[in-house]
Amino acid sequence: MTLALTITGSGPVVDRLKQDRSAIRAGLTEHGAVLLRGFDVGGVDGFADAVRALAGEPLTYTEQSTPRSRIKGNVYSSTEYPPHAEIPLHNEMSYQAVWPLTLFFHCQSPPETQGATPLSSVREVYRLIDPSVREEFERRRWMVVRNYGDDIGLRWWTAFNTDDRAEVERLCRAGGVEPEWIEPNGLRTRAVRDAVHQHPVSGQPVWFNHVVLFHESSLEPSIREGLREIYGEDGLPNNTYYGDGGAIPDNVVDHLRQCYRRAATRFDYQFDDLLVVDNMAVAHGREPFTGPRKIAVAMAEPSQTPR
Ligand SMILES: [Fe+2]
Repeated sequence: MTLALTITGSGPVVDRLKQDRSAIRAGLTEHGAVLLRGFDVGGVDGFADAVRALAGEPLTYTEQSTPRSRIKGNVYSSTEYPPHAEIPLHNEMSYQAVWPLTLFFHCQSPPETQGATPLSSVREVYRLIDPSVREEFERRRWMVVRNYGDDIGLRWWTAFNTDDRAEVERLCRAGGVEPEWIEPNGLRTRAVRDAVHQHPVSGQPVWFNHVVLFHESSLEPSIREGLREIYGEDGLPNNTYYGDGGAIPDNVVDHLRQCYRRAATRFDYQFDDLLVVDNMAVAHGREPFTGPRKIAVAMAEPSQTPR
């Protein structure tokens, strides 16, 4: 199995997606990702139409974790982190009770150097993880703690798309999240999730969680130290623990990070590339980059397996 089946051609991409929908869906299931190259995507409207053609209506980005802006409708910019920063491999929204099953990336403007969306099969990541580490997560699960503060992380009303506290509490309950208001304007949330899931089509176990990306060891060391001094360990924007609240040692997170890297594959973006990713089969990240990188992102097909 090669990660990412590449389909090259020309003309409107939406026509190709409609014409070959079932074959492209089969390719996505088999390979975990499909790259459509050489086609005309047709800007942001064409991108949204491409999403609809393959996977239905693009989803709203809820319980936001990173700064990104809405380009139009439910098409968003990719995470607006500084270009020099790498974004570790992860599965979109795996910290939530419901996540998108399918992700779309559209290259509006390729970077000059690097800036790829590296991809790792999370079936392969699962296989590479030391069985004792895996077993511990299967038994203890994992917990995500998030802080929405006055001067740290996102503001809670941005993340939840509402300024109504009762509505936030309702959304939290519905999503298996425990909210704690930190007066005057802060919110801390905790959620315990499974670290390993079954892929909905293949039934195979997949490593599907945000343990690495949200763990404090993924921050630059000086930032990690500075934030801990000011806000305390439980006041970081994001942090991860075992499901019973126990600390995950840095060396365990390092091992997981290495497994993602060992499983990773990459390609250089070209203008109008359309990348489709099976979010439960394949993790994605972002390389550091130089140049005017613009990647639009859309999500589709909510999982409906809240736990
Ligand atoms: Fe992402």
